[in-house]
Amino acid sequence: MIDIDRVNQYVGQIAGYIEGNTALRGAKQYFAGVDLGTTYMVVAVVDEEGRPAGGALRCAEVVRDGLVVDYVGAVKIVRELKKEVEEALGSELEVAAVAYPPGCEGRNVDAFRYVAEGAGFECVRSLEEPVAANLVLQVKDGAIVDIGGGTTGIAVLKDGEVVYTADEPTGGTHFSLVIAGAYKIPFYEAEERKKDPSLQMELFPVVKPVMEKISIIIERESRRSGYSVKEIYLCGGTSAFKGIEKIIAGRTGLPVVKAAYPWLVTPVGIALACREAILNGHEGTD
Ligand SMILES: Nc1ncnc2c1ncn2[C@@H]1O[C@H](COP(=O)(O)OP(=O)(O)OP(=O)(O)O)[C@@H](O)[C@H]1O
Ligand SMILES: [Mg+2]
Repeated sequence: MIDIDRVNQYVGQIAGYIEGNTALRGAKQYFAGVDLGTTYMVVAVVDEEGRPAGGALRCAEVVRDGLVVDYVGAVKIVRELKKEVEEALGSELEVAAVAYPPGCEGRNVDAFRYVAEGAGFECVRSLEEPVAANLVLQVKDGAIVDIGGGTTGIAVLKDGEVVYTADEPTGGTHFSLVIAGAYKIPFYEAEERKKDPSLQMELFPVVKPVMEKISIIIERESRRSGYSVKEIYLCGGTSAFKGIEKIIAGRTGLPVVKAAYPWLVTPVGIALACREAILNGHEGTD
């Protein structure tokens, strides 16, 4: 089992900086992680010691199913997020890493890097999203499940190494779609209701089938990996929905641990990957 309290405290510091529009000023060096998500675009920053230093987040629709579909829009947003964090830090950001979903290849991987470069970063590393998430979670054996907006990413770990990855197009967007359909409300309104913890109990029966579908995906991919998965670690914004861990645990029969501020786990991991790239000379595309 991982030390989830450590993870929550660590990621919570970034959440605090984003919320308060503040940052850790005066560090020797800063390393950025750029996460281009289907729903959230995030820039997270750590310092030379790997301490959380700052961050900025924006809702946007410039990436779909793991592909950059609006390059110009993505560059503009990342540039703005970069500026926002720089103002809080009182320092310029130079280097960044980016991450791509499992299964993304070739020019699609390059697209993520070009967005960061277009926004004014020197992009020193591209890596798979779950590999980044595990720099924060530090899972040795088990499965990391990143339930984002558009997709659910799965990584199986053995002795601390990622041995299998997959990405399936079911995520938080599908929660909002079924809520919009059930209550006959626009998508954006469903999205807001869904994120309100005080409404999640009432919405639970409506979104339960989507949770079950995600559980089946986890089961199937764990089986396909050929490894015996004994624990599941949840990250990605959709895992913040109350009770999703119980559905997944019930269906898979495995213990499920979920991170607090789950939408920030992968972004912070990408920032740590950037730091690793510079300090350990581990640059390039993984
Ligand atoms: N408190 C919450 N409860 C339920 N869902 C939430 C909550 N907060 C955020 N979400 C959902 O989490 C999703 C965003 O999470 P995340 O940032 O991990 O995804 P993403 O990286 O943008 O998408 P993807 O990884 O699929 O490209 C959205 O669908 C959003 O509605
Ligand atoms: Mg994501």
